[in-house]
Amino acid sequence: MKIFLDSADINEIKTYINTGFVDGVTTNPSLIAKSGRNILEAISEICSLVDGPVSAEVAATDYETMIAEGRKLAKLADNVTVKVPLTEDGLRTCRTLSDEGTDVNVTLCFTAGQALLAAKAGATFISPFVGRLDDIGQDGMGLIEEIVTIYDQYGFDTEVLVASVRSSQHVVDAATMGADVVTLPPKILGALYKHPLTDKGLAAFISDWEGTGQSIL
Ligand code: G3P
Repeated sequence: MKIFLDSADINEIKTYINTGFVDGVTTNPSLIAKSGRNILEAISEICSLVDGPVSAEVAATDYETMIAEGRKLAKLADNVTVKVPLTEDGLRTCRTLSDEGTDVNVTLCFTAGQALLAAKAGATFISPFVGRLDDIGQDGMGLIEEIVTIYDQYGFDTEVLVASVRSSQHVVDAATMGADVVTLPPKILGALYKHPLTDKGLAAFISDWEGTGQSIL
């Protein structure tokens, strides 16, 4: 399973690239706004730092403007994936850009029916938002299970990119279900390393080792 970083913060991205776990980056208009950066400059810089796909989202909601924005974003770098919302115009945009050879990430997916349409529209990635479904009392990971089953059943190439991830358990569940990608806010990637017994065990090893008076180097 690939791990993408859900961030438009260059410093954060640089820090987490050093972990060796970042296979790509996803951004959205909210993350670009939070970064305070110009979208074209930020996406170009992120693409130069990351080898894998970098999702850059269109801002328009009508087909013609989304196509123009998508083409402009796609020209920024070879590893740009154009992100479009799961609307009728968004899926038309997906079909056109995909036919032109551009990778497309269809975002704001909340049902398996939407995911089915995105796959049929040629999406490279579908982004179901699991945390936002959990927030309204629905079953975010249940949606992932449904989409993975449907895509496997028909051999769709569209990759399931689990988004709006809120916990390490979401990541483990996504991996268990066979999702292709999780996109993680940096704090969730950081949390994946953590267990109190790891910290406790390490403290005991350090203390016992100091008692030996030895040095490996
Ligand atoms: O990038 C899209 C998604 O991951 C947003 O997550 O936490 O704003 O629901 P969140």
